[in-house]
Amino acid sequence: MARRIQEYRSEAISVTFDPNRCIHAARCVQGLPGVFDVGERRWVRPENATADEIAEVIHRCPSGALQYERLDGGPAEAPDETPSIFPSRNGPYYVRGAVELLYNDEILPVINRAALCRCGQSENKPFCDNTHRRIGFEAE
Ligand code: SF4
Ligand code: FES
Repeated sequence: MARRIQEYRSEAISVTFDPNRCIHAARCVQGLPGVFDVGERRWVRPENATADEIAEVIHRCPSGALQYERLDGGPAEAPDETPSIFPSRNGPYYVRGAVELLYNDEILPVINRAALCRCGQSENKPFCDNTHRRIGFEAE
């Protein structure tokens, strides 16, 4: 069953987190540990950094699980000018850019970042749900 999308706000920025899309790449907790702290019940605390700092770290979230909306008039995320797809070792395809996904006759918008299942076993296709780790998927 899909888990609900979470929202965390400061006066300057609204951060949303889709747990169904997170692949635990940890770019967020490494990038801003004062904001993203999985040891806390309220694990995203946008009041602990500037909106620019938070946006910059969210741009590095490879799965698109983290998104934001600026409430301070700052710029929205600009998709990469050149779309790209990158196969990660033993893991998903990382897609970036303003691309659309056609899946089961449905067009899914990709907001610049997504991790797509490459092992074929995800229960959240077309997105990766980390099943590749459990099954020991191997691919260069
Ligand atoms: S996939 Fe995104 S939200 Fe999940 S741990 Fe990595 S950076 Fe954080
Ligand atoms: S590649 Fe991650 S679940 Fe398939």
